[in-house]
Amino acid sequence: MTPKFTPLKDHDTPIKVLFTGYLCTVGIGYLFALIQILFTHGMADGKFGLSVDDIVYSYYGNRSGTVLETQLNGPMKENAPDQERFKIMEWVREGADSEAYKDDGIKKIIESRCVMCHNKEASGVPNFSNFEGLKPYTTQDTGATFASLTRVSHIHLFGISFIFMFVGLIFSFAETPTTQYKCIAIGMPYGFLIADIMSWWLTKIHPMFAWLVIFAGMGMGISFMFMWVTSILEMWLFKPVFIKGFGSRYLEWRDNPEASIPDRLWILIKILASQIRPAGVMLRRRWLKHVWPVIIEQLKKLR
Ligand code: HEC
Repeated sequence: MTPKFTPLKDHDTPIKVLFTGYLCTVGIGYLFALIQILFTHGMADGKFGLSVDDIVYSYYGNRSGTVLETQLNGPMKENAPDQERFKIMEWVREGADSEAYKDDGIKKIIESRCVMCHNKEASGVPNFSNFEGLKPYTTQDTGATFASLTRVSHIHLFGISFIFMFVGLIFSFAETPTTQYKCIAIGMPYGFLIADIMSWWLTKIHPMFAWLVIFAGMGMGISFMFMWVTSILEMWLFKPVFIKGFGSRYLEWRDNPEASIPDRLWILIKILASQIRPAGVMLRRRWLKHVWPVIIEQLKKLR
């Protein structure tokens, strides 16, 4: 079968260099993103490494405590000795009173340990050089704010969809995976990206959804890696891998006439897609019959 496109290995070398340059840069970017996650969310529960607790603390918050406590037990742990951290936390527990702030020496600790970073000039971190700046952080920790979630959501949706646009475009010239596999690998990251963003908001509402954050993030990473590795191998190592190496067995397996896993998945996707229309019609009917009248009723009452 001759493909309707130029396979990756047959592209001119300049194009291959362009594709490879892009893939390598984005790959390094991905690594840095993972490191960044380890250092911000990873430290949320005070222990290094990402866990479900980290996700819950970051989005839902540590609701049994205050923001200041969560931070002092987590990312800000290293910034003050234990004795002083406990003193601050004790003060918070006892009501974060402005008198006690000065009298119990909390002001002194904050000024010597925190204000070097948390001052008026610093951008992106709250200013603790006066009591008013610190006070809001002595209230219940409810995790990420809606404002910050909105900001990060739109940046992620725009930015990451661009990355997957080009990675997917390069990968679409791959010839070793079947069309089915390619469609799944190219489409998956978008599904997972939307699931990822949605899961942040859901976790903000209920901690149960923290696992979805991890699941969606991993799905995105796996499809990225699959497209990345396949593209690079086909461009530069086609012969050693797909003709002489382990890839040849894959090609044999691929051309086996028995229905493979991606083929079956493909059929499943087609069946599901054919259900979308009838499901939509049914939802619309239910909506018009049951939900819409209630909304209209409420609106009438408001007026
Ligand atoms: C080396 C610089 C540095 C020092 C010292 C430091 N912080 Fe921070 N702090 C930061 C940065 C940077 C952030 C923002 C981190 C982020 O957004 O992930 C932050 C965030 C915080 C937050 C969360 C703010 C928010 O918007 O949720 C709190 C609370 C906090 N620090 C408390 C403290 C306290 C209390 C001390 C003193 C014991 C302290 N920090 C010392 C750099 C510092």
